[in-house]
Amino acid sequence: MTDFKSLIAADKGQKARTIQILDTGNFEDWLKGQGESIREIVKAYRFVANPDSYLLLPVIGKAKDGQSEQGDFTIVAGVAKSDQLDSWSLAKLGGRLPEGTYRLDGASAKDALFGWLIPQHEFDRYKKLPDRQGPSVLLVTDEISQVEEAVRQAEATALVRDLVNTPAADMGPDKLEDIVDKLSAKHGGDLKVTRGDTLEEHFPMIYGVGKAAMRAHAPRLIELKWGKADHPKIAIIGKGVTFDSGGLSMKSPAGMLIMKKDMGGAAHAIALAKLIMEANLPVQLHLLVPAVENSVDGHALRPGDILNSRKGLTVEITNTDAEGRLVLGDALTLAGEQEPELMIDFATLTGAARVALGPDLPAMFCDDREMANGLLAAGDVENDPLWQMPLWSGYDARLKSTIADCVNSAPGSFAGCITAALFLKKFAPKNVSWAHFDTYAWRAASKPGRPKGGEALGLRASWRYLKDRYGS
Ligand code: BES
Ligand code: MN
Ligand code: ZN
Repeated sequence: MTDFKSLIAADKGQKARTIQILDTGNFEDWLKGQGESIREIVKAYRFVANPDSYLLLPVIGKAKDGQSEQGDFTIVAGVAKSDQLDSWSLAKLGGRLPEGTYRLDGASAKDALFGWLIPQHEFDRYKKLPDRQGPSVLLVTDEISQVEEAVRQAEATALVRDLVNTPAADMGPDKLEDIVDKLSAKHGGDLKVTRGDTLEEHFPMIYGVGKAAMRAHAPRLIELKWGKADHPKIAIIGKGVTFDSGGLSMKSPAGMLIMKKDMGGAAHAIALAKLIMEANLPVQLHLLVPAVENSVDGHALRPGDILNSRKGLTVEITNTDAEGRLVLGDALTLAGEQEPELMIDFATLTGAARVALGPDLPAMFCDDREMANGLLAAGDVENDPLWQMPLWSGYDARLKSTIADCVNSAPGSFAGCITAALFLKKFAPKNVSWAHFDTYAWRAASKPGRPKGGEALGLRASWRYLKDRYGS
């Protein structure tokens, strides 16, 4: 793992290159103050301080604060608002600048530290990446208290990305168990893993989805408990489908191509649990990861089969590709039995959520208005946006079955993410505040600091919400 801690240091006047932060509003004024040759270079590059643009400029004469510069150049960088940097303002710089030490001029890095750190993490498990720069260290003065938090968020985000990027062959249910086991050991938690006959008896839907992969990648329910008994109970649940072939209702090759990411919900849940434990949030945490591969063999779940569930409801399988809601259903039931005061689940649950909101906006479902508003506000603050969708009971009828208590997949494709959430709601406890995130966990096209591949979407928002609600 990238050593994020080493990428921010206290400014004690050491040698460093200056990063002049500008926006289009103050660019002209700045330019006027520059010498002729700098003005010519800036114009030649057509640099006008647009967001995510930057230039390396030679240092001519002495730096204006009298400190000598490291090396022979300085940086001028454009952002949206130079007096209000956000999480992503420095993301273009963090990953691209030549190795060295830097300090900002004209802006506080306070809310932008995460964006300095995260671009410096890359997924290099399977090849050494070419034109890699850095490490680049940022010197800070008044932002020390925020450094620890930014480092934690960067580590959690990098964890989600790495877990999702790792191919299914190297990230099966056993590997997810390993990861939760290590995390639990590090923080003094209790790990419980349910497999085999016990899984079949007590979690029929998790077993039903995972049984076709029994020999190669046996299904299991991974649980971690952590925290003091007198703290409020919260449950975090993540969809851990380590590969989603669709089962017998098989996906097309194109649809299957990125389905190693179908454990993205589990990756979010594990990363959120890590944040909670590292920050020592005063809660009693229950992390649940139903970990299965949705595969095919002679034992595979079939369309038309009827599964029992932990809750006791029978479910007619109308589509084996609607597997995430099955494994989550049993996990939600178990989580509810502990009577927590709050539950959050993360899942790469439906393509329909992506049709509705695109790749960047997780669909958030929550009947508790106060909690929903809190989550939305936290997403705004963290530049990790969410969008609320309705758990509208008017669509409940779409899940009716003639021979079982319900079907797992409503006919047709309309409101697909809503009917999926309504299915989950049947298994969530009645009097517990519960939020469900239908997230993509993936980035198809890169943005500064955000390479193509696995991505944390909704993680920092939900962490912020929990920290505000339970933190001291
Ligand atoms: N893991 C998929 C959802 C998914 C697909 C997320 C593509 C992101 C991109 C899930 O298990 C699934 O296959 N859902 C089906 C549900 C349908 C059969 C009701 C879907 O969305 O097509
Ligand atoms: Mn599926
Ligand atoms: Zn799936």
